[in-house]
Amino acid sequence: MTEQTIEINLSNNKKEKPNPDQLSFGKVFTDHMFTVSYSEGKGWHEPKVTPYQPITLDPASMVFHYGQTVFEGLKAYLANDGRILLFRPKKNLERLNLSNQRLCIPTIDEELVLSGLKKLLEVDKEWIPNAPGTSLYIRPFIIPTEAFLGVAPSNHYQFMIILSPVGSYYKEGINPVKIYVEDQYVRAVSGGTGKAKTGGNYAASLKAQEGATSRGFSQVLWLDGVEKKYIEEVGSMNIFFKINGEVVTPALNESILEGVTRNSVLQLLKYWEIPVSERKISIEEVFESYSKGLVEEAFGTGTAAVISPVGELSWRGENIVINNGETGTIAKKLYDTLTGIQKGDVTDYFDWTIS
Ligand code: COI
Repeated sequence: MTEQTIEINLSNNKKEKPNPDQLSFGKVFTDHMFTVSYSEGKGWHEPKVTPYQPITLDPASMVFHYGQTVFEGLKAYLANDGRILLFRPKKNLERLNLSNQRLCIPTIDEELVLSGLKKLLEVDKEWIPNAPGTSLYIRPFIIPTEAFLGVAPSNHYQFMIILSPVGSYYKEGINPVKIYVEDQYVRAVSGGTGKAKTGGNYAASLKAQEGATSRGFSQVLWLDGVEKKYIEEVGSMNIFFKINGEVVTPALNESILEGVTRNSVLQLLKYWEIPVSERKISIEEVFESYSKGLVEEAFGTGTAAVISPVGELSWRGENIVINNGETGTIAKKLYDTLTGIQKGDVTDYFDWTIS
């Protein structure tokens, strides 16, 4: 598989690049994409970089019917010395294959994908934005393409990587957001697909997000799917609280996605010798600790937003304002360190970036 030659077919119709100071998230796409096909017998084959283009599919293609899809999200930055830096891409590719296993999609050669991604980035290097707070968001994904209406794993798939120059994911940027604690809908359940990065989890989140938006909140805090008691995630991110001097994040389970940023934050906190634990944390505990004046900070972590401080939490009609609604010291330090490492401006103690 690693021996496969990646064909490169360049576009002769280059698009105009966006103004780097006006980038939002995920609306503009570069000139090229990377694709690999899968069919029974041939396995994953025909890796190629091609012009970015629409794809034509049979209406019976399984992607339109039963949601057997997986995706990833990671970012590339342009360092001051001109190198293209990727942040921990192997973690994302490992997770892609874990998602594949959960969704009965054949695993893909991570080395092949990484070399395809590097070739794609070389070809579209000029699209990597350089303004503060911007990056090139990388979206690898797999869709089932067999035309068949039976509920079964597809026999054909398409793997693709598309690239999008982006600014901040939330309009608030690094400013704190208001969060609604959702106690009707759940994002995922134990034994379900919460741990996999699959489209259905995000579709399942929309209804609650719609309700939160209509009540004036930016995102939803997700509770566990059984007792609606324990905190799981926030929006499409992992969540951290600083309570009485200790940083706490929900321990991983079958319904929490293991974020690459979550893992990096844990490593940084340990390196800085800040007390940190991964454990079950209930929403009652947060509100009770708040009433004792012990909740110092809360923030979400994810690839798209990096760090998103939580300024306000609303649960069953009670509102709490965390850290006076301001960005906390730890959230700010984590944001500056992570984005600094990603951009090559801060010492990469952990060898996270590769070029
Ligand atoms: C991330 O931040 O890692 C995400 O998954 C966000 C993405 C769904 C836009």
